[in-house]
Amino acid sequence: MTLLAVETSCDETSAAVIRDGRVLSNIVASQTALHAEYGGVVPELAAREHLRNWQPVTQLALREAGVKTTDIEAVAATQGPGLPNALFIGLKAAQALAFALRRPFFGIHHHEAHLYSPWISGEPLRANFEAFEPSVSLVVSGGHTLLVHSQAEFRHRVLGATLDDAAGECFDKVGKLLGLPYPAGPEIDRFAAEGRAGRYDFPRPMLKDAGDDFSFSGLKTAVLYFLKENPAVAEDPKSLRDLCASVQAAITDVLVGKTMRAAERLGVSCVTVSGGVACNTALRAKLAGACKRSGIALRIADKRLSTDNAAMIGILAERKLLAGHPPCELDADIQPNWEL
Ligand code: KG4
Ligand code: ZN
Repeated sequence: MTLLAVETSCDETSAAVIRDGRVLSNIVASQTALHAEYGGVVPELAAREHLRNWQPVTQLALREAGVKTTDIEAVAATQGPGLPNALFIGLKAAQALAFALRRPFFGIHHHEAHLYSPWISGEPLRANFEAFEPSVSLVVSGGHTLLVHSQAEFRHRVLGATLDDAAGECFDKVGKLLGLPYPAGPEIDRFAAEGRAGRYDFPRPMLKDAGDDFSFSGLKTAVLYFLKENPAVAEDPKSLRDLCASVQAAITDVLVGKTMRAAERLGVSCVTVSGGVACNTALRAKLAGACKRSGIALRIADKRLSTDNAAMIGILAERKLLAGHPPCELDADIQPNWEL
């Protein structure tokens, strides 16, 4: 089975070719530089860029996989959730291709696909589903912070989500307060490695709450007030590094604390992490330590698949096809607010 997948839900235009659980190609054209000067993703610019890029990106994915258009046996695209106009470009392009080739089409849930990326590993990348086991998954990026309980493949329940800012958004907004370029997560991570996390005390929002939801806007506001009272901290390289380490510790304590509590409560044997923030050094280290102490296996998405990509869309579509899920209508519409 050779399947072409397209992903355009936010600011990455991506196309991938999947064959029998293997990722033959996964091309990602990131728009980060385009949106950097605005300090965040501008939806209309994202859609225009997808329109410009989807065709060359798809051609490159086919060429890298050594596959001709006529070899494609099924087509998939992200149907939602995401930015409406951005989703529209990829979905309609993929549906048109499926129509022209007379192939089945699968509209895929972006968050469900993120749950698959920790299960795709190796060189070359391939899906490993013999081991798909009941798990608690943390999906953390600039757009989402989700805690999901997967009882089995296709059986997911959202335990909690952010009530305001996503975890990556918190990194980015704190970075903006510090004058760091967008997206600031990687830069804060680098500075934090040279800083002392215990120097400044920031709140751990909702860490002690009984529920599984998150909230990060209060932490960003706490940093804002702290900087108003202590403006010199951002100017001094050592203090800046300590501040980055302290903020990163607050964010990751919440993410790890809530993930582990849910995993232990539900008795799962596996914790998975995906999304751009899965690249964070402190998050990875803290989760590794916590999982080891609890005897829980940890699967972190490969860095190539942490950010938005079409490989995870294609792998999920292929699994659905093999499991006998019916294809979607070729005129199925985007679902920008689709819930898992
Ligand atoms: O998944 P992604 O590429 O895009 C979406 O938001 O959908 O994630 C990007 C987010 C940004 O907020 C970025 O600051 C954050 O992931 N990020 C990090 C790190 N690398 C990326 N945050 C903390 N530490 C990192 N190393
Ligand atoms: Zn995403």
